[in-house]
Order: sequence, then structure tokens, then C-alpha cells
Amino acid sequence: MTIETITWSAYIVAALLFILALAGLSKHETAKVGNLFGIAGMTVALAATVALVVDLKISTTGIVLLVAAMLIGALIGLQRARVVEMTQMPELIAMLHSFVGLAAVLVGWNGYLLVEHEPNGAEALHLDALGTLGIHHAEVSIGIFIGAVTFTGSIVAYGKLAGKFNSAPLVLPGKNLINLGSLVVFAALTAWFVVDPQLWQLIAITALALALGWHLVASIGGGDMPVVVSMLNSYSGWAAAAAGFLLENDLLIITGALVGSSGAYLSYIMCRAMNRSFISVIAGGFGIEAPSGDAVDYGEHHEINAEGTAELLGEAKSVIITPGYGMAVAQAQYGVAELTNRLRERGVEVRFGIHPVAGRLPGHMNVLLAEAKVPYDIVLELDEINDDFPETDVVLVIGANDTVNPAATDDPTSPIAGMPVLSVWESKKVIVFKRSMASGYAGVQNPLFFRDNTSMLFGDAKDRVNDILAAL
Ligand code: TAP
Repeated sequence: MTIETITWSAYIVAALLFILALAGLSKHETAKVGNLFGIAGMTVALAATVALVVDLKISTTGIVLLVAAMLIGALIGLQRARVVEMTQMPELIAMLHSFVGLAAVLVGWNGYLLVEHEPNGAEALHLDALGTLGIHHAEVSIGIFIGAVTFTGSIVAYGKLAGKFNSAPLVLPGKNLINLGSLVVFAALTAWFVVDPQLWQLIAITALALALGWHLVASIGGGDMPVVVSMLNSYSGWAAAAAGFLLENDLLIITGALVGSSGAYLSYIMCRAMNRSFISVIAGGFGIEAPSGDAVDYGEHHEINAEGTAELLGEAKSVIITPGYGMAVAQAQYGVAELTNRLRERGVEVRFGIHPVAGRLPGHMNVLLAEAKVPYDIVLELDEINDDFPETDVVLVIGANDTVNPAATDDPTSPIAGMPVLSVWESKKVIVFKRSMASGYAGVQNPLFFRDNTSMLFGDAKDRVNDILAAL
């Protein structure tokens, strides 16, 4: 058996492991195993690729460079993963996507230098004999285009999320025309490149794609940035798949397609959960209007303290906790888990209601609760729990705001109108944990805070949960 046969077999095993990883990651009960499948798949893929390269009898310098690059990359990756805060995850992911984009651009340019730049070279003659030279020209152009859009788009997304760039959307006159026009020019240049490849066309395609990636993401406001990150995740998958075609590497094509399609689907789910138009987000903020300011006077709010809350909880039979971004900021999940245990020991039914975009990244709350060892079976999705609020005695809204805003269902003029929300106000009593009356991520006031059955428990969520534990 040749090393090539072994490598291709290993690639099929790795591809299957990646599919199992995705399947595992789709549910929190199986997420850990899914992660292990992913690690195993990547190890198999890396080992097979290195074996293939070594079999090509490359120079010792080549091998040293390869190992050095892998070691440096692994060290930086390990260090970043160790220190990153959960809330900084989207920006780290955005930065990693920019590397995938850059790699695809470099692979594309390498393809050009090997083939189009050397029309009488071995590689060009080989492709010509196979009759796939035209396809190669197209692969080079498309690979570089997707890679460059991903590269600059991800850098802008990283900058906006890390607060290094202004998060307000850039509104250039005729921005939709700029985006559409760029796509038309790209298609024309690619057609030309396929028929008669020349260096200037590729330079123009690269420059155009770099500018388009920058413009696409700069046009999107900070609020839609997590969707953009997931969209860039998808682009980076397609960029990897394009590089796979160029390198004739089936595993890269399969993995790229998996990342590309799952990223696109995740973006779609997030858009639906936030009531944003998917097309408008991927088209760079097409048709997005500025939110209307609301100056409605909702009246007075009521306050409660930790002891009062403990008393209410002591009398309750059923409690639902709806966590949000504030729980992550306060790192209150451990106290919340302890509170859950204590209440359950007293025979109170405690469940969690998780909104699909609670926090700042998909699954944010599920990860925090799993970290604090809250049992999975009491952590329910919005659809699973939303009808149960009327029969619930007490709802604890811990650091959530937009995801429990009744204006989304009651006020058609609200910027978040139509966004599915947890109907916490239908329960008998709602306690809202937050530090002030400030609005949430979407910047809109929340009429929930002024309802008769709502009481505000002000302060850091972790401190207040600990106070309740002490009072219980
Ligand atoms: P938010 O609407 O962002 O509200 C969080 C609340 O937590 C704030 O009102 C804040 O009020 C409070 N808070 C902050 N720090 C706190 C602390 N230490 N202790 C107690 N409270 C604290 O949260 P949400 O309900 O989770 O909604 C998520 C928002 O993010 C939605 O608008 C969603 O569309 C958006 N978003 C989410 C995603 C994903 S994928 N999850 C993606 C894009 C956008 P104070 O400042 O008064 O304390």
C-alpha cells in the first residue's frame, strides 16, 4: 500500500470524525464527545498530511520549517485559548477566520505562480493534458476572492468587537450598488482570467475582494456583529474548500463545505432569533434602518431586596430562571447553580429558560450553566418553556434584558418588534437582577421593569445571588 492510499484513507476517517463532531456539538449532552471527535479528526488529518509531505522527500529545511510553524502556531493557539474570556470569544473567532482567509489567498497565489505564471511548467502541462487548465484558472480566482473577502471582513469584525474600530455602521452613498457592482466586476474579471490569464487581473481581483470584505463588514452595526462572525465562519469554510480544490485535497474540500454550510445555517438561526433579515445581514446591512428612539414614560418601578426575594422563593412551588448577558459579566453561574440545588432540595421545581441569543454568542448561557454543573434536563429552550410561565410562581431574570422585553410582542414600532422573547411577565412574580435601569444590548427601554408583578433587585448579579443564598 502506498503512502498516498494510506493518507486518502486517513482523510476519509478524519472527514467522518468531523461529521460526528458536528453531530455531537449540536446537543449539550454530547458536546464534550463531539469535541473529542473533532480533536481526533484533526490529529488524524494532520498526521496524514505530514506523512504525505515527508514522503514527497522535501528538504530537511522544509521539514524544519513545517515543524517550527506547527509548534509556534500550537503554542500561540494554546496560550490564547487559555486566557480568553468567554465574552471575548467572538472576537477571537473573528481573528482566527482572518487567518483562514489569508491562507486561502496565499494558496490561490501559489496556484497562480505554479501554473498560470509558468505556462510551460510541469504543473501547467499536467493540467493541460488532463483538460482541467480552465478549471484551475477559475479555482485560483474564486479561491483568492473568497479568501480576501474573509480576510479583511474578519479583521474589521475583530476590530469592532474588540472596540478598536467604531462599531457604528459605515454608510457610504450607494453602498448596495458598491457591493453588487464589485460582484459583477469580479465575475467579469474571472471570466477574462479563465480565457486569458494575466497577472494584472489577479491583482485587481485581490484588491477588489480585500476592499469588498472591508466594506461589507464595516457597513454592519456592532449589534449584528455576532451574526457576521458566524457568516465569516461560513465564508472561511468556503475559502478552505476553494483551497482544497486548488491543492486537490479532498479532506479540505469536505471540511470546508461542512464549516461553510453549518456557519451559514447558524447565521440563519441567529438572524431568525433576533428578527433580523438574513439577506440584509449577509449583504452588508442592506436595508437596515436606524432604530427609532423611544421616550415613552412607563411609570414607576418597584424594588425588592435579597431577603424579600429569598422569602418569595421559600414560598414558591415553581421557579424559572432566565439568564442573560449580565450573568456572564457577573460570573454568577456558580451561585445560580448553588441556588438551584438549594431550592430543589426544598422540593421547589426549578427550570431554566434559555433564549437563543441570550448573552453574546450562540450557546453562551448553556456553556456557563454546564460549567457550573446545572443538570441539562432542567435547561430548556425558549420554545420548550415559553408556554409554562403562566403556571410559574417566581421568575428570576438574571442579567437578561432584551430577551425578556415584552415590547418585542406588544409594540410594532419597537426596534426589536417581532423578535421571539421569553414571556416572563405572564408568571405570578418576576424579579429582575441588574445594576441599574439601563437598557440592554439593543438600546431599547424594557417595559417589563415597570409592570406591577415585576420587582427590581439592583446590584451585581453574583453578589445578589450570594445574598439570597445567605438569607435562605
Ligand atoms: P442584554 O439585553 O444585553 O442585557 C444584559 C443586562 O445585564 C443589561 O441590561 C445589564 O444591565 C445587565 N448586567 C450587566 N452586567 C451585570 C452584572 N454584573 N450584574 C447584573 N446585571 C448585569 O442581555 P440578553 O437579554 O442576554 O440579550 C442579549 C442581547 O445580545 C440581545 O439583544 C441579542 O440580540 C444580542 N445579541 C446576542 C447574540 C447571541 S448569539 N447571543 C448575538 C448578537 C447580539 P445593567 O447595566 O443595568 O446592570
